[in-house]
Amino acid sequence: MKYPRSPRILVAEDEKDSADILKEILGASGYEVDLAYDGEETLGKISSAFSTGSDTSENGSGYDLLILDIFMPHVSGSEILKKVKTDTRTRLLPVVMVTGLGEEKDKLEAIDAGCDDFLTKPFNFAELLTRVRSLIKMKFALDSLDSAENVIFSLARAIEAKDAYTQGHTERVSQMAVLVGERLKLGPEDADALFKGGILHDIGKIGVPDGVLNKPGKLDADEFKIIQTHPDIGARICGKLNSIKTAIPVIRYHHEKLDGTGYPDGLRGAAVPVTARIMAIVDVYDALTSTRPYRPAMPKERALSILNEESDRGWWDKEILIEFADIVNPMA
Ligand SMILES: [Fe+2]
Repeated sequence: MKYPRSPRILVAEDEKDSADILKEILGASGYEVDLAYDGEETLGKISSAFSTGSDTSENGSGYDLLILDIFMPHVSGSEILKKVKTDTRTRLLPVVMVTGLGEEKDKLEAIDAGCDDFLTKPFNFAELLTRVRSLIKMKFALDSLDSAENVIFSLARAIEAKDAYTQGHTERVSQMAVLVGERLKLGPEDADALFKGGILHDIGKIGVPDGVLNKPGKLDADEFKIIQTHPDIGARICGKLNSIKTAIPVIRYHHEKLDGTGYPDGLRGAAVPVTARIMAIVDVYDALTSTRPYRPAMPKERALSILNEESDRGWWDKEILIEFADIVNPMA
């Protein structure tokens, strides 16, 4: 089978002889093989290969298959499997667990944790290559589906590029929102929502006429109503794509205020999802600290003090604002 690039396999195996044999057999079949000899090394290699924002379909940096010995020093194969299958960046990476004969209990646990296939030692190489081929085929099919996500990201950046004053806004907002999420110890799904929501939150502006979007003066009531449609349009554009489902609440609710005076739904208090509350604060901060046609960029202290006043008025989440202020202005 022809692949768009060489498939990359990570073999995590503490027995050096087994690891070397696997590398030789798989290498001879055209696969790029990387080896890890213990649990920590395995997690380190996976983490650097799947850093936030990169994926195999775009730049070939990730792995296409993990062959994982169930018994590994430091961090066991089962723990690694759980980590891989619960992290949104790696959950689509196929994992083949290598077990010895008679390890039925471990096998059941591995199936439960989302393992894709098993190999039993000693290896049957014909069986090994057949399984590897079928899982890699599946991984490449998933990558091509996932590139729909990249198309949407490109669209968001194209919209941003139309306006010289918002250059880099989505990247900055995305990165700051993820940092706030980490401070608040939110889970991997929320981190994914914040990263993607940061890039996509204003994608609905594609449905707003340029004359309204780039009007230098104050908007009249009708024009403001048109601007207010962008969260709903954005949520509908992205709503059909499974891989960016987590970001929909961020896109739809990033202009909501906790006192119910925001848009599009006028949600109040706890009804505003935490990811959208984070995005609202970060989005306003980035707008205030960026140059606009009608005013220069504000210093961060001034922007934070405006956000504080607005938080006292009941618009923003105070706890999130405290964490955010500590990130952007740690000396204060
Ligand atoms: Fe917006």
